[in-house]
Amino acid sequence: MAVNDYGYLKDQILKLTKVDLNAYKEAQMKRRIDQLITKKGIRDYPTYIKLLSTDRDAMEEFLNHFTINVSEFYRNPDQWEFMDKEVIPMLIQRFGKNLKIWSAACSTGDEPYSLVMALSKHLPLNMIRIYATDIDATIIQKAKRGIYDEKSLAGVPKDLKAKYFRKLNDKEMDAVKPIGESDPVASLKVAYAVSDEIKSRVTFKKANLLEPRDYMKDYHMIVCRNVLIYFTEDAKDQVFRRFHDSLVHEGILFIGSTEQITGYQKMNYGRKNSFFYERLD
Ligand SMILES: C[S@@+](CC[C@H](N)C(=O)[O-])C[C@H]1O[C@@H](n2cnc3c(N)ncnc32)[C@H](O)[C@@H]1O
Repeated sequence: MAVNDYGYLKDQILKLTKVDLNAYKEAQMKRRIDQLITKKGIRDYPTYIKLLSTDRDAMEEFLNHFTINVSEFYRNPDQWEFMDKEVIPMLIQRFGKNLKIWSAACSTGDEPYSLVMALSKHLPLNMIRIYATDIDATIIQKAKRGIYDEKSLAGVPKDLKAKYFRKLNDKEMDAVKPIGESDPVASLKVAYAVSDEIKSRVTFKKANLLEPRDYMKDYHMIVCRNVLIYFTEDAKDQVFRRFHDSLVHEGILFIGSTEQITGYQKMNYGRKNSFFYERLD
């Protein structure tokens, strides 16, 4: 076996973490992993695998690194505007007020909390329930904590920012505990906490988009943005088919701004615009 045989690394990572790197674009993923390994002064995959199997911090660092968890509230504001003006009213008209919504690959929570805020303009807060999932358990802990820097909040409409966020005072800042390795919150000068009334509307759970049994049924809307860009065409195709099965008839799929569903007609999706699709059958 060659020391830098990516096939070997993929097999070992699958055994250790149940993450199948075959589903992620190879050149990009290998480059990211190689950068991480080099930074640690390691020169071959077997040594790295040995480290991952004995050192929990190294494992957590690997998971954080490969999953690329950048997020922000109201990411791509135009699309959230469309959500507010067109999609949410349509969902309520089609399915009533008891909506079942899934934020898949939710990262630090910015997306599911944005969904709660967007829905709160149309529905009483106590009727809103968002199911939010990610493959990375550490990121879910950060999402549940609900503390953000100023930059993450840049897209939040002013009235909602005033209503649902609170700037932390110095004492509260000191009390914020870093989660995992290299938590940027630890070095922030200014931070905001999302309100408990927003947080309480979201249920977080660890789930893998590559795992068929992690999909559930009867969603009125699924939001999955800025993760499938890292997947191979085959893996993407499978995820879109599974989302199709997880949606109700006429349920909506909201995807990221650089993503699209190639061959969506064949999968029985209709296209509302570049980012919003609906299940047709
Ligand atoms: C770039 S973030 C996107 C966050 C948010 N959806 C947004 O658009 O701002 C990608 C997220 O996908 C998650 N992810 C990567 N692979 C995944 C998988 N196989 N199943 C579930 N989540 C995954 C990562 O942990 C990360 O939090």
